[in-house]
Amino acid sequence: MSTNFKRTLITTALPYANGPVHIGHLAGVYVPADIYARYMRLKGEEVVMIGGSDEHGVPITIKARNEGITPQEVVDRYHTIIKDSFREFGITFDVYSRTSSKIHHKTASDFFKILYDKGEFIEKTSEQYYDEEAKQFLADRYITGKCPHCGNERAYGDQCEACGTSLSPLDLIEPKSTISGSTPVLKETHHWYLPLDKHEAWLREWILENHKEWKTNVYGQCKSWLDMGLQPRAVSRDLDWGVPVPVEGAEGKVLYVWFDAPIGYISNTIEMCEKEPEKYGNWEKWWKDPETKLVHFIGKDNIVFHCIVFPSMLKADGSYILPENVPANEFLNLEGDKISTSRNWAVWLHEYLHDFPGKQDVLRYVLTANAPETKDNDFTWKDFQARNNNELVAIFGNFVNRALVLTHKYFDGKVPAAGEATDYDRQTLEEFKSVQAEMERLLEIYRFRDAQKEAMNLARIGNKYLADMEPWKLAKTDMTRVAAIMNLSLQITANLAIAFEPFLPFSAQKLREMIGMPECNWAHLGHFNLLEEGHQLNEPTLLFEKIEDSVVEAQVQKLLDTKKANEAAAYKANPVKENVAFEDFMKMDIRVGTVLDCQKVPKADKLLQFRIADGLEERTILSGIAKYYPNSEELIGTQVCFIANFEPRKLRGIMSEGMILSAEDADGKLVLIQPRMKVTNGVEVK
Ligand code: 2FM
Ligand code: ZN
Repeated sequence: MSTNFKRTLITTALPYANGPVHIGHLAGVYVPADIYARYMRLKGEEVVMIGGSDEHGVPITIKARNEGITPQEVVDRYHTIIKDSFREFGITFDVYSRTSSKIHHKTASDFFKILYDKGEFIEKTSEQYYDEEAKQFLADRYITGKCPHCGNERAYGDQCEACGTSLSPLDLIEPKSTISGSTPVLKETHHWYLPLDKHEAWLREWILENHKEWKTNVYGQCKSWLDMGLQPRAVSRDLDWGVPVPVEGAEGKVLYVWFDAPIGYISNTIEMCEKEPEKYGNWEKWWKDPETKLVHFIGKDNIVFHCIVFPSMLKADGSYILPENVPANEFLNLEGDKISTSRNWAVWLHEYLHDFPGKQDVLRYVLTANAPETKDNDFTWKDFQARNNNELVAIFGNFVNRALVLTHKYFDGKVPAAGEATDYDRQTLEEFKSVQAEMERLLEIYRFRDAQKEAMNLARIGNKYLADMEPWKLAKTDMTRVAAIMNLSLQITANLAIAFEPFLPFSAQKLREMIGMPECNWAHLGHFNLLEEGHQLNEPTLLFEKIEDSVVEAQVQKLLDTKKANEAAAYKANPVKENVAFEDFMKMDIRVGTVLDCQKVPKADKLLQFRIADGLEERTILSGIAKYYPNSEELIGTQVCFIANFEPRKLRGIMSEGMILSAEDADGKLVLIQPRMKVTNGVEVK
């Protein structure tokens, strides 16, 4: 549906304030939303971008309980960390607030009350688990038990993490409360439900007929939800953290976090408008005027809430507009594994800022170049380095630096005269003609990856132009032509400062400062009179710098350490084998010997051939640890333990006389057992 909108309201998923934010958040939601908002502002459109922290929900109460602090203390800590990270990455929220605020509690409460008074909810009594010791109903995550599918003893009331099955608490075998450890009992409780089934018909038409232009991943998910048939959804919970249900007799009940969180977009808009009424006007124009285009930026796990549940809430009220688009992204993985807060498998934004100060744009660039727009994508440190070195440094940075340095060299930093254009110049100009329209087309359909590629392509054209023109050679013979070349190169540079502004705001600003172009106007993109003849440029500095191998290797090592720590935490030792009698143990002749020589066995990847001084004479032993000791010569002179009376056997034509002892680590790695102090060769291990 194309309507002529007057203004745009951008919302960004409110991240849970139970941990810091990572690259997955940035790639999935905040960088694309910020690109879109910056682009709209550059065009001079009326636009706001709303953000904030989602501070309710059970995981926050669990974290508080585990740490012995209050939920408010948990969210206070993370709200600040998250807000700071976003600011540092140049995410230009018009407001970044939080759902534990007074204004949000009031807005969410009033929203519920209006629907309640209109009879938009149904009420139901059901049986739920109750902890008689802790005297409270148990959220699904507070109940553990045995999974009926795989037998995992530690499945949660909503999911078994061992086999991935979604569960309901009633499915668990031998359920236990994680609060008191007691066995919970079933008790009746009363809740309010939003009858989504009543909304199905208009949702079908609105999405499936009228919004066929939505991204296929979003449209497809909505279709499959709608085709399965919608059910009433509970909008309240028995919990003491959240917005209290504003109905008499609802003590101990709060609004379900997914009911209040999207209302957070409205509360934060109200807060923004109340703070700066002259700038933003009345909040209702943003939420209730059909000339406002509402766009929700979210990750794929939030699709159903933003395309089905929240629109049903808005429709039930009746006075709100509905989203015009919900450009949800898929997930970003990290080095081949799903990003996970609990497993610490993430690149945390506050850590990145610490490790790569001033390099926010590099991450913004890489996350957009690799954005999970249509399918899950992988972030790797190798790709991060390659995109920085081969694209930002070698193309964009190199071109700009050459253009500015040469202008300083030949023309004292003053923009030289344009002069006559050659065919090649005209051809280069031609390539810029359609760039504005093409970037707009891509940005309007939320294809930020391709839009950024267009911007980089301009830098590529500039780079090629300078390399082909070789003004440094012409400088000896034809300064008029050098002036023309440099003029055109500088006009390209000015274009780059505009084209990259939505994507790389820090670098674009730095570039504008260098060329003395304070204004940035999208309408100027594709024009070649942006810097007048005689205009004085400032001193150039490098926009980007090379990232060395050692720097990314350190990041990869950090992840490997995390993996190792996770494996160790998850490692469950094998059950102890059957007892052996002392006499049986004494049959084993375990000794210490010194490694005289150690080499790889040719054509056998795994085997190392040891020559051991065993206190009597020398012996050869083969051991399958080659993979773990690539520098086998380093073992020469060290001592190892071996079974001296192990039946000799031939491997790869070599007689092995004994067995060298190793410990097998949780990840399968073999580590030699070696005495801490030198002992006499041939002594026994007891
Ligand atoms: O998935 C999440 O991180 C949720 N906190 C998103 C909420 S979006 C909106 F509804 F507030
Ligand atoms: Zn299971």
